[in-house]
Amino acid sequence: MKVLFVCLGNICRSPLAEAVFNHKIKQLNLQHRISADSCGTGDYHIGDQPDPRTIKTAQKNGVEIWHQARQLSVQDLSAFDYLFAMDEQNKRGILRLPDAGKHTHKIKLIREFDPQGQGDVPDPYYGTMNDFQDVFEMLDRTLDVFIESIKHDQL
Ligand code: 4NP
Repeated sequence: MKVLFVCLGNICRSPLAEAVFNHKIKQLNLQHRISADSCGTGDYHIGDQPDPRTIKTAQKNGVEIWHQARQLSVQDLSAFDYLFAMDEQNKRGILRLPDAGKHTHKIKLIREFDPQGQGDVPDPYYGTMNDFQDVFEMLDRTLDVFIESIKHDQL
């Protein structure tokens, strides 16, 4: 199973989601069956490393992170089993891809799995380190619920 996390710049939220998800999957020894990647709907940061605050937040929480930003492409629709948008704007960006209509069942907001609420993962780019930690905690609890929902099918 392949999961794609999608945000705008692919330097803050989605690379953190990818890193946290892959960390959890490795802890469950499911890395040969389940993996994640991330990308952005925008092209501003193609080739960039994650934002230094993203890297710091991952490391502070014991999660290894390595990613090089890339832009969402039409091939991602067939290459992944789930495409998780961080916010409604990202979701609309995915749905604008040609033929997205055939894949709508795979395209979701990640916080559909948040046990503490729904809606957007707020963009921390113009925020503080606290905002990055809030994003981490939101992703951490949300990904636990998603992984629990798919784990049994993958054993
Ligand atoms: P991300 O955050 O979508 O979580 O990676 C952003 C990063 C960069 C920009 C916006 C959001 N930007 O405008 O450059």
